[in-house]
Amino acid sequence: MVLSILGALALASLAVAVPLDRRQVPSTLTATSSGTAAPTGSSSDSIDAAFTAKGKIYFGNIGDEGTLAQGETTEILNANFGQITPENSMKWATIEPSPGDYKWAGADFLADYAMANGKILRCHTLLWHSQLPDYVSSITDKAEAVAGRYAGKCYAWDVVNEIFNDDGSFRDSVFYRVLGEDFVKVAFNAARRADPEAKLYINDYSLDNLDWAEPKVTAMASNVKKWIAGGIPIDGIGSQAHLAAGGASGVGAALSALAASGVSEVAITELDIAGAAPADYQAAVQGCLDVETCVGVTVWGVTDAQSWRSEDTPVLFDANYEPKPAYTALLDMLNGS
Ligand code: XIL
Repeated sequence: MVLSILGALALASLAVAVPLDRRQVPSTLTATSSGTAAPTGSSSDSIDAAFTAKGKIYFGNIGDEGTLAQGETTEILNANFGQITPENSMKWATIEPSPGDYKWAGADFLADYAMANGKILRCHTLLWHSQLPDYVSSITDKAEAVAGRYAGKCYAWDVVNEIFNDDGSFRDSVFYRVLGEDFVKVAFNAARRADPEAKLYINDYSLDNLDWAEPKVTAMASNVKKWIAGGIPIDGIGSQAHLAAGGASGVGAALSALAASGVSEVAITELDIAGAAPADYQAAVQGCLDVETCVGVTVWGVTDAQSWRSEDTPVLFDANYEPKPAYTALLDMLNGS
């Protein structure tokens, strides 16, 4: 079965790329996504504009059709953020709930929203052990099918997600059981064929410091270094950064260690911090500022009510769509005031 899958991947036709305006010319792109006046009581200052003024590519957030329809969410995204990640709509269980039966509507909505509103699109995620449909028992060609569908639209793809345990060993996933670590090569090569322009990322959590998270940071960096040397097309490492209160101080040092693997870029891909203390957010974002190849930060949720960790109130806007002190503190830091 695996061999026939590999054959199918190799034979699949190349996707035709469409122009990559936002992706190829970041400075131009960010100019189109920032500076929009907030139409509501939300913050009137774009954190994306402030962040990109520091030489970064984007400051983003997440969304899908459901959350974007809630209250002032879309207005906040339009006014404040320059990049968007689909929270769930591109995950396997959502996009192909039964074999070959692709449900594109949710992901198409988010991709269309990004294209129409000049937002950089981070695509998430082709292979992950979680949110899988029941029928999945081995690697299939869905990497090609899904990445091909959005070829030309994704700035980056999280090609594989959460493949390591905290001790740095490989997670015992269906992919690892079937192919060993070769599944990484299969997935990245398929994604590269399907979307030659997208930055291909390996994404994970517990990459937040060089203290307790050090084994995983080291395993990630050394494996990625080895895989790149072996010709696997890995462009970036994503650090999810789902943090506890007070847990942001080591983010920069860990990002630096990840960047030293030889990837061309790194990013904070899913930032949320319990309690959303201003100092914690400042420390995390400063961590990206301090690492030259860190291209951007994505906050994992617009409002606390929408957050997957809502009881932790971990994001930048409250349940009433109002910016929280951490948002203002970030703007102050980025604007040098
Ligand atoms: C979360 C979503 O926010 C939830 O809506 C969903 O029920 C579960 O997944 N790591 C990831 C993200 O890479 O895709 C997860 O998102 C959070 C953990």
